[in-house]
Amino acid sequence: MSDRYAVIGNPIAHSKSPEIHAAFARQTGQDMSYERILGPLDGFAATVDAFRAGGGRGMNVTLPFKLQAFAYSPRRTPRAEAAGAVNTLRFDDGSILGDNTDGAGLANDLTRNLGVHLAGARILLLGAGGAAQGVILPLLEHKPACVVVANRTPEKAVSIASMFRNCGPVSACGLADLRGQRYDVVVNATSAAIGGAAPDLCPDVFADGAFAYEMMYGKGETAFLSLARDAGAGGWADGLGMLVEQAAESFLLWRGVRPDTGPVLAMLRGA
Ligand code: ATR
Repeated sequence: MSDRYAVIGNPIAHSKSPEIHAAFARQTGQDMSYERILGPLDGFAATVDAFRAGGGRGMNVTLPFKLQAFAYSPRRTPRAEAAGAVNTLRFDDGSILGDNTDGAGLANDLTRNLGVHLAGARILLLGAGGAAQGVILPLLEHKPACVVVANRTPEKAVSIASMFRNCGPVSACGLADLRGQRYDVVVNATSAAIGGAAPDLCPDVFADGAFAYEMMYGKGETAFLSLARDAGAGGWADGLGMLVEQAAESFLLWRGVRPDTGPVLAMLRGA
């Protein structure tokens, strides 16, 4: 029987993960299946227990269960600890490992697919929720000049930046404090795009040729990306590449093989 994997979330029907992992499995010749599981809002742990009992080898975890997956994991990778959330579970011989591949997915998309240099860059990270927290450590690992976390509610930015003060040059401020500051890479980790809005941002934050990254995907040119383009950004992307790259990191953790993400990303962009 093929090794079983799944993604669990609520809602889950929209998830592209089965398509992505099926493509990775074909490409690398791995004998595995990957399904969608709609997790009951009050039944995450029981649903994962049942999947494990049925021989499941690993799961991706999406909203709203990433914190519950963190609590579910008796063993966690350092990057899951730093993110405070788990998006990947691996089950072997009765043990459970929790990992978080979201931040590596962002960093890999920026550096490998989009040709953005993070080393020495001034990085502005907008937002201070789970999405922002999950990417700070992987960004710092690329040795940027600084990572500035800016949030509509400044106290939340201060709070998450302080968790990483021993990991590199990270600081925090409110959106209004950005006036006069310029950045090479601006990452939107807010959920503003859900409501069709952009963070209230002074266009001057984009340095000449800056790269703008919208972590959400499937929303076309968001208000944030339009703002970046009008402000003279040199390049921009949405989070579809991050989705494929975080999947590749999960696949590597499960199967020990790194798939080639290029053709899979091209397939999704084509669709
Ligand atoms: P997630 O886990 O996806 O990061 P979250 O924890 O709800 O979601 O965090 C959402 C983030 O988007 C927050 O930083 C929020 O700012 P506040 O902390 O001030 O609420 C930010 N956000 C949402 N809508 C926004 C908007 N229209 N403009 C600016 N920031 C916004």
